[in-house]
Amino acid sequence: MAQRISLTQYLVEQQRAHGHIPQQLRLLIEVVARACKRIAISVNKGALGDVLGTAGSENVQGEVQKKLDIIANEVLIEANEWGGHLAAMGSEEMDSIHVVPNRYPQGEYLLLFDPLDGSSNIDVNVSIGTIFSVLRKVNNQRGISEEDFLQPGKQQAAAGYCIYGPQVTLVLTVGDGVAMFTLDREMGSWVLTEDDIKIPADTKEFAINMSNMRHWAPPVKRYIDECLAGSTGPREKDFNMRWVASMVADVHRILTRGGIFMYPWDAREPNKAGKLRLMYEANPMGFIVEQAGGMVTDGKRRILDIVPTKLHERVAVVLGSKNEVERVTRYHLEAATGD
Ligand code: AHG
Ligand code: MN
Ligand code: MN
Repeated sequence: MAQRISLTQYLVEQQRAHGHIPQQLRLLIEVVARACKRIAISVNKGALGDVLGTAGSENVQGEVQKKLDIIANEVLIEANEWGGHLAAMGSEEMDSIHVVPNRYPQGEYLLLFDPLDGSSNIDVNVSIGTIFSVLRKVNNQRGISEEDFLQPGKQQAAAGYCIYGPQVTLVLTVGDGVAMFTLDREMGSWVLTEDDIKIPADTKEFAINMSNMRHWAPPVKRYIDECLAGSTGPREKDFNMRWVASMVADVHRILTRGGIFMYPWDAREPNKAGKLRLMYEANPMGFIVEQAGGMVTDGKRRILDIVPTKLHERVAVVLGSKNEVERVTRYHLEAATGD
């Protein structure tokens, strides 16, 4: 029988070989992974666990909170508070940061998460997930504030997501490639099922919410029009389309077989840069995708270079197979210079 490598063994061996997973970071990753197991159990119970439907409240972004948004948020906070590996946490579902209470030791890391990604898919039993991003606490001079979190995504120490789908899968990067673990439900353990994941540079599959087409900027419309024109158009090949409406699921498919994902700026709310959030959606997914050889921009700039100005900042996102993301980015830059 082939040897099964657990998440713990993987992290210990990575540290031994490369020295980039100090003990606090290992604990952090293991605690987040354990919290994801608990969330997976709740997700799985569905109606039997009374976890479906709305909670009757709104988050800071004016979105209606689902019961599972709140449950997942609480599970992640409770799991991460006491271990001594964190200084503070930020979440889609909390207006401001949650500093580790004084009764616990304060650690060297900051954790950001989207506790439940794809909320509109909860009640319809379609894949959803948890996304997380880990930063180092760089300022040792004083207490923690939101400002400590405002670091560009390229400074992430680790990032990952867990997808609650037909299988429960954890995808992780610590800046040295991307690894995938599958939850063995009987054993309750994470088993390494793929290492060094690479996204093919070319693809014939795109993901975008086509219902917003009339609101898009010209470069996005140009790109999609060319894809839709298929083998008789300028791209000279037919494209396929997928849109799950759970970023985790769309990104997971791209990691598995390539593709391009876009949630661009659109004219519905012109003052918002995009729908997705920079610090706990675009940055962690961006780190993973780049580590898998893909590319991530907001149409013009590399997302991981953006210095955030606030915790819940939004951003346009173009990510996935390198040659396609390059093309979309070129179309934006050409439109800006009038070429
Ligand atoms: P969340 O459930 O955390 O608010 O995120 C949902 C996001 C993302 O997962 C997905 O790609 C996108 O919203 C779907 O948006 P549309 O419903 O506008 O297609
Ligand atoms: Mn989300
Ligand atoms: Mn969410």
